[in-house]
Amino acid sequence: MTAGATRRSLLAGVAGLAGLPAQVMARDSTAAGLAALAARRGVDYGAAVEPENLARDSSFADLINRECVSVTPENHLKWNILRPTPDHFDFGGADAVVAFAKARQLAVHGHCLVWHEANPAWLAAGLTRQNAEALLNHHIGKVVGRYAGHVGSWDVVNEPVERNDRRPDGLRRSLWLSSLGPDYIPLAFEAAHRADPAARLVLSDYGLEYDDEPWMVEKRGSLLALLADWKRAGVPIHALGIQGHLIGSRPPAFGTGLQNFLRDVGRLGLDIHVTELDVNDQQVAGGQDHRDRIVADCYRAFLRAVLTSSRLRVVTTWGLSDRYSSKQDMFPRPDGAPVRPLPFDRELSRKAAWHAMADAFSVR
Ligand code: XIL
Repeated sequence: MTAGATRRSLLAGVAGLAGLPAQVMARDSTAAGLAALAARRGVDYGAAVEPENLARDSSFADLINRECVSVTPENHLKWNILRPTPDHFDFGGADAVVAFAKARQLAVHGHCLVWHEANPAWLAAGLTRQNAEALLNHHIGKVVGRYAGHVGSWDVVNEPVERNDRRPDGLRRSLWLSSLGPDYIPLAFEAAHRADPAARLVLSDYGLEYDDEPWMVEKRGSLLALLADWKRAGVPIHALGIQGHLIGSRPPAFGTGLQNFLRDVGRLGLDIHVTELDVNDQQVAGGQDHRDRIVADCYRAFLRAVLTSSRLRVVTTWGLSDRYSSKQDMFPRPDGAPVRPLPFDRELSRKAAWHAMADAFSVR
């Protein structure tokens, strides 16, 4: 987190509350945005954004500015966009997000430096044992170095664990693993740390949320063992990111399993970030109000559980308004109704999900 962002978090916390008598605050905590409410729990709240939407939709850009203390480029720091050819870097979209954030004193979280998806065809075709380490170092050095002082934290490695790949260590068989072995993870963190020693470095993954899903419980165990090894070896990793892509059609089973997992991760000396929170409502039945309540309950239960961790530092939703959610393309509803996975609706009005988040941030 940059100094500017810290200042902004404090301001957000104070701006929502300063000068208001206690009874007014109690009656109307909704005067404050989510960032102001989250700040009271020591949490920075932000959202993933696409630069095109910020540029063409000033109401949406204003909403981001009101509700968030940080932004995450949703796609523009991925290899397929940054690296159309081996020799050319296209920083246009990422630069636009960073400039937007700078003008408003928002922090920027970088997503992501190493992932098995969203890679250009030339990378998979050309990656060998001989060139992989140099390619990884060059990419991370160039990208993290460019934004040093502007991007305060990074998802260095995204989604590295896949139990279905049946390796004893739980690591995913990916292009980086095939060329460098498990060392690609420490190497990536070390390269990021060299390029910006002040940046907070995160390893992020999905499928860690539900206590009643055996493969997720197993995945927590694999990840905990890996994190313990890396910490013991002195790898510069500062936080675990839990993506938080929740599923509205299943019971919100975020209980002691999740809480104990977060406690154990915290005991390794790691912070917790929620990196991509949203609620998939593809299979949620019923009318719109009912569906919105189910989605809201899911947000509330999940946030209450993760807020039991004293190490929770960041909550980022994967978008802010249903006007712009990748869920619409990735998980459209079979009945053709628009999806409603985020805290604000298409008209940029607060939904039940917003109030549930506000609630979760308020209750101790
Ligand atoms: C998604 C974006 O939201 C989409 O716009 C894009 O088409 C595909 O990627 N896990 C991740 C994110 O780490 O990068 C993904 O984002 C969603 C799943």
